[in-house]
Amino acid sequence: MKGVVLAAGKGTRLYPITHSIPKPLLPLANRPTLYYAFDRLKEMGVRDICIVVGEMEQQMRDFLGDGSAQEVNLTFVRQTEPKGLAHAVGFAKNFVGGDPFVLYLGDAIYGSSFKSYADRFLASGCANLNIVKAVDDPSRFGVANVEGDRIVKLVEKPKNPESNLAMAGMYFFGPQIWSVLPDLAPSARGEYEITDAIQVLIDQGQTVLAGVYDGVWFDTGTLDSFLETSAFLTGGNSLVDPTAEVTGILGKGAVIGERARLKCASITDSVVMPGADVVVTGSIQHAILAGRVRRDGSVENQILQEGSGVEVAS
Ligand code: TTP
Repeated sequence: MKGVVLAAGKGTRLYPITHSIPKPLLPLANRPTLYYAFDRLKEMGVRDICIVVGEMEQQMRDFLGDGSAQEVNLTFVRQTEPKGLAHAVGFAKNFVGGDPFVLYLGDAIYGSSFKSYADRFLASGCANLNIVKAVDDPSRFGVANVEGDRIVKLVEKPKNPESNLAMAGMYFFGPQIWSVLPDLAPSARGEYEITDAIQVLIDQGQTVLAGVYDGVWFDTGTLDSFLETSAFLTGGNSLVDPTAEVTGILGKGAVIGERARLKCASITDSVVMPGADVVVTGSIQHAILAGRVRRDGSVENQILQEGSGVEVAS
């Protein structure tokens, strides 16, 4: 089985830091986000991985190289514009060829292995198996209506969800998907949706299965979810790279990256990116900091990178 990792989004909800560091490379617990994806893929026996990249292609290639340092074989393809997951995956068609593959969102973090789901998918020979997870607020997600182990209907962000099973960003496909993609139309939000592609497989009468996942699942795309993921991976402890220089009280969930310099009164529940140079006279709470930052007073609920002219409050 091959792997396709989607990493071509703009990451606008994490601006300004994603202007300079692509979201899939942002460190979590001082390790690039994508390395966690490689771990999960290797557990399933997947080593040949295609990364679908966007406008930060060169940075992604320079950073990840051929993947050998992470014991994977990487191929890069460029999605011309981020027009949706079903559009992005189409660029991996030549790489995948006729093989089964797993589609993985580059900004997702999962707490436990998918090997049993991969084995079940491969043994069944079905067109598609999707990881779903019971959630409290299904109307924010693509929701799967399930009968037995089959998905019979998918509804994107339903107002009145008929099930609490959310599509959890991990999909196993056979080659049947390739003939579906060219005929898809954009959705109301103007994107080519992977849920629409899967609905076509269902309508064709193909076997589309659900794999109910009970591990934890995070998407790292916002200030809150990024820091929540970071806290999960550090166990809530503080973590300082040995090359970083820190003056100030380190509280719970403070993560300081490689070569970062930080002076502050105290820091909790925050991430200082590699190479950052931060001087804050007060405390830092629930924030992500990158580049050169100077602040009189405290920083709270912010993504800050001086020079970009942009600040994002949660
Ligand atoms: P999103 O989080 O929907 O989009 P994004 O990463 O651009 O972030 P934002 O909304 O803040 O601008 O994307 C989920 C994942 O899918 C992410 O890893 C990027 C990837 N993706 C693509 O590769 N191509 C696409 O066309 C889209 C929409 C997303």
